[in-house]
Amino acid sequence: MAHALEAIGISKSYEAEGRISVRVAVLNGLAFHADANEFVSFVGPSGCGKSTLFNIITGLLAPDEGSILIDGRETTGTTSRKVGYVLQKDLLFPWRTVLDNVILGLEILGRPRAEAREQARDMLKLYRMEGYENKYPSQISGGMRQRVALMRTMITDPQIILMDESYKALDYPLKIALEGELLSVVRREKKTVIFITHDIEEAVTMSDRVYVMKARPGEIVNEIKVDLETDSPLIPERRMSRRFNDYYDMIWRNIGIEPVI
Ligand SMILES: Nc1ncnc2c1ncn2[C@@H]1O[C@H](COP(=O)(O)OP(=O)(O)OP(=O)(O)O)[C@@H](O)[C@H]1O
Ligand SMILES: [Mg+2]
Repeated sequence: MAHALEAIGISKSYEAEGRISVRVAVLNGLAFHADANEFVSFVGPSGCGKSTLFNIITGLLAPDEGSILIDGRETTGTTSRKVGYVLQKDLLFPWRTVLDNVILGLEILGRPRAEAREQARDMLKLYRMEGYENKYPSQISGGMRQRVALMRTMITDPQIILMDESYKALDYPLKIALEGELLSVVRREKKTVIFITHDIEEAVTMSDRVYVMKARPGEIVNEIKVDLETDSPLIPERRMSRRFNDYYDMIWRNIGIEPVI
């Protein structure tokens, strides 16, 4: 069977700033895949091209070379309804209420507003945010804003969810609570997740598989299948797996970050 998502030989370079025109290779020959219901992470240093890669998967950016296939069909350079994107920052519209931020994707799809709002209300209940429908993003916490961003993506029912460092700016207890919630939601809804993070601990606790990247140019240096020997969606429980440290160590040694002292 075809992979839910497959990337073949993705390369991308940008025109560097300056008087002399030089192209800088950002991504070089990336090949990877994600299967249905799989949680796949990309971990790599800042600037290795992770967000660029997501822009290519969603079709916002065309690669110089290579192909993106979704369920075996080439989608390179085009957007697919099967893919949902939770951006690096939550990017809610400040002038819209929580409810109207959640329905945004449905509005874009042309769904009637009343119907979309009804669906969003049900979703807010599911995400334990009942009563916040009419609040504005500035009136809710950072964790709630991330939840709203996730709901806004989930409501359009994509098969594949791309998440770009969604939990980066949160304090630790909130981060692990939202990570656990995410694992439960995507398992229940049978989604494929592709997750970008700097955080090796997060990658190990969340993922079925991790691609490790290096920078300049961005390349995949290793692929690690993670088995923490537990099905629990609870992060502290996953973190306590006796195999956690081995995976952490494996990724850390692969990532090749220069120590800053
Ligand atoms: N539109 C652009 N024009 C020129 N260079 C760009 C552009 N977008 C990104 N770059 C460069 O490409 C490289 C990769 O950027 P990208 O944002 O994909 O990295 P990243 O891995 O997501 O980094 P971070 O972890 O900091 O979010 C960086 O060196 C960046 O400066
Ligand atoms: Mg980025």
